[in-house]
Amino acid sequence: MPIRTNELQMAPLPAELVAPQPPLSGRALAERITAERRAQLRRQISTYIDKLVPGRRRVLEIGCGHGHFLTAYACAFPDHDCLGIDYSRERIEKARRKVERNRVANAHFLLGAVQDLLAVLPDTLKFDRVFILYPDPWPKRRHRKNRLMQPPFLDQLATFVRAGGELFFRTDHEEYFAQARSVVAEHPQWRLLTDFAWPFEHPTVFQERTPTHHSFAAVRTSPARQ
Ligand SMILES: C[S@@+](CC[C@H](N)C(=O)[O-])C[C@H]1O[C@@H](n2cnc3c(N)ncnc32)[C@H](O)[C@@H]1O
Repeated sequence: MPIRTNELQMAPLPAELVAPQPPLSGRALAERITAERRAQLRRQISTYIDKLVPGRRRVLEIGCGHGHFLTAYACAFPDHDCLGIDYSRERIEKARRKVERNRVANAHFLLGAVQDLLAVLPDTLKFDRVFILYPDPWPKRRHRKNRLMQPPFLDQLATFVRAGGELFFRTDHEEYFAQARSVVAEHPQWRLLTDFAWPFEHPTVFQERTPTHHSFAAVRTSPARQ
């Protein structure tokens, strides 16, 4: 059934739902949020799930900012269901206005920390493709623990990506690029691709500000047989 653009409107979340979160283990992630907060996130997620068209490829962008990339991607791939997540209220509201204005029915945006949203997403929902574009590099050594690309987050993300699903990562920050690539290379549920084509080029806001960037791609490996 086609998605109606007027259904994309979602009430903004209260400010306390949206806050930068340090990486935690999968169990700690699930336990950290209160029952009330979990219920609020679930309500937001169910609005998204209700609009999914069965059988379509599902695409996730983490830290989607104003949604420039994902909106352009959704227009280029009208048969993919696209979800953008960001914890900036102002950016998500802007992204929602953009898809409404352009009548893009297959792009959806959720407000919240990705760790919290994934902690309450049903694990029957699997994505085929994930983009992480210009994640915050946290350049100071003492802040590196806040970086997204760490083993507990890759564990959590792997639950929501089908075997063979793809992860595309891009940044202009050389040191973060090297660290993220090596964390993915060493993770048992992901395999780095040595030869890959970037599936869709459309500069993000941060990409437009930088002269060069570095990209890698990985696939979700099949779970080991019991
Ligand atoms: C450097 S900006 C890049 C935005 C966009 N991808 C681009 O390339 O223009 C990083 C974005 O990630 C979001 N972000 C950082 N950590 C996040 C988290 N844990 N959950 C959700 N969004 C997050 C920030 O709010 C910000 O919009």
